[in-house]
Amino acid sequence: MCGIIGYAGRPDAVPGIGAGGHGALDVVMEGLRRLEYRGYDSAGVAVLTPLGIEYRKKSGKLANLVAELESAPLTPATTGIGHTRWATHGGPTDENAHPHLADNGRLAVIHNGIIENFAELKAELLDAGTVFVSETDTEVAAALLASVYRGEGDADLAKSMQLACQQLEGAFTLLAVHTDSPGTVVAARRNSPLVVGLGDGENFLGSDVSGFIDFTRRAVELGQDQVVTITPDSVLITDFFGEEAAGTEFYVNWDAAAAEKGGYDSFMEKEINDQPQAVGDTLLGRSDIDGRLTLDELRVSPEELKNVNKIMVLACGTSAYAGQVAKYAIEHWCRLPVEVELSHEFRYRDPIVDSNTLVVAISQSGETMDTLMAVRYAKEQGAKILAICNTNGSTIPRESDAVLYTHAGPEIAVASTKAFLAQITAAYLLGLYLAQIRGNKFQGEIKDILADLGKVPEKIQQVLDNSGQIRELAQLMKDTKSVLFLGRHVGFPVAMEGALKLKELAYIHAEGFAAGELKHGPIALIEEGQPVFVVVPSPRGRDSLHAKVVSNIQEIRARGAKTIVIAEEGDDAVKAYAEHIFYVPETPTLLAPLLTTVPLQIFACELATAKGFDVDQPRNLAKSVTVE
Ligand code: F6R
Repeated sequence: MCGIIGYAGRPDAVPGIGAGGHGALDVVMEGLRRLEYRGYDSAGVAVLTPLGIEYRKKSGKLANLVAELESAPLTPATTGIGHTRWATHGGPTDENAHPHLADNGRLAVIHNGIIENFAELKAELLDAGTVFVSETDTEVAAALLASVYRGEGDADLAKSMQLACQQLEGAFTLLAVHTDSPGTVVAARRNSPLVVGLGDGENFLGSDVSGFIDFTRRAVELGQDQVVTITPDSVLITDFFGEEAAGTEFYVNWDAAAAEKGGYDSFMEKEINDQPQAVGDTLLGRSDIDGRLTLDELRVSPEELKNVNKIMVLACGTSAYAGQVAKYAIEHWCRLPVEVELSHEFRYRDPIVDSNTLVVAISQSGETMDTLMAVRYAKEQGAKILAICNTNGSTIPRESDAVLYTHAGPEIAVASTKAFLAQITAAYLLGLYLAQIRGNKFQGEIKDILADLGKVPEKIQQVLDNSGQIRELAQLMKDTKSVLFLGRHVGFPVAMEGALKLKELAYIHAEGFAAGELKHGPIALIEEGQPVFVVVPSPRGRDSLHAKVVSNIQEIRARGAKTIVIAEEGDDAVKAYAEHIFYVPETPTLLAPLLTTVPLQIFACELATAKGFDVDQPRNLAKSVTVE
């Protein structure tokens, strides 16, 4: 939540223009444009000019700030910070937008996260005479930083940041500039993301690498509780007590074009269409010619994994549905019990995890606070943690014992699509790897499953190429008030995901159910004309599963439901019961979610677009949920 960008560039011969031939405002605005998916309630920038700090901030989308900057331009500068907000404390107003100023306008601060002890800090600062103009916890952090700066911080911005952070509780990334320190941005992080970008005569800070991907691909990940000071020519990292620390440098191997819309009207459409590649890239280079999985990158030895007697998947939202899909496959292939739990529920009960538990934390962003906290809790209980993550340098993989990256490329649209399919793919690779090292499956079988997985990208492409009919249906159904989704076995989490996509993109009431659960209650919802999507398993799959779902379809049709069926090519038996039918190519049952999800994503995206909604930035949501 909230996107943060910082820039320090060396002034060249041309005054006010930085090392790369661009001013701070260009870099910061480009970064905000790329980070807007993290929050879009309001946005603001501050630059350090020879005349002091200049800033602009506006509620609403970034376009409002752009308009403001056009009508009231800033003086050219080579140091700046920018923020795009997802409101926590205080509504999305101009006053509550960041930056927040302190020290009589000489200090500007932006923040991502929640400062949990802000109320008591604010009370102390009020007593000392501070006047606040916003309702935010960020202004409290700015005022605290200013007060430390004028006191024990000895007017040293980095030292003051360290000392101020020692007093802060909660989650925060803070960026600060001060008129006394031209060419310098000081930042701090605890439980919120921050990466450094390394340039030539310029350095960057961003919530993630997409913030500065146009300018550099060299990045440094920071640890927990660290302060970093960037100038055009230096990066200095310390802990909150001033002790120097080393960051870990990494190279970002996707380029700026991957984070662009590539000719599509929305990132969501692009990302849905990226899915053959996302799955293909996630499979790439992870098995040898004999079908042996080679996951050496995991950083955890096969011996350690052999002792695992239980897997616990921790994740939220769409990532949790990926875990639910994977459960069916991993249990089947590895004969290991797999539990899937929403991260935010996990640590508030008394979960049974120990050193033989493998916790698989699934997170696209790698920053979801609920999952991070669950991971930390599981680690304390002795569990081994393996992250499945899409974001290099993010916190969850860094704090895990092992990591399997999904190679979906940057996912910008707030609602997850390609990361979901990539997560399922990665979890399947993990399941097959465990089966391989535990000897649960013959190598020949693993090789066959890998070969089937290898055919999936092409099959997803076929689904995409045949999406005309589902798009038409979405257009026709744009005024629908409620849609139900049913599935069994791996089709159940797919139904839940279909419902979630429709809720979050089109703001339509949607529920996903296990088809077998219908008769235990939800069937009461069925009335004349109620649209129900049914994800039908392959007729070639497990005995009776197909027949059971066909019976469920008959039950709801008999009560007036309008049935929309996703079935496997060649499944003629189900045709008679479907008002609309969409076929996906044949594939083994366990791999079917990689295909059956796609029409549901397209349906939600198309319907939301038909209603005139912004599918990339749905209301009230943020891409990276870094608060609990
Ligand atoms: C839904 C969606 C969310 C995320 C969830 C977890 O489309 O995107 O439900 O899946 O917030 O996020 P990550 O995977 O980043 O931990």
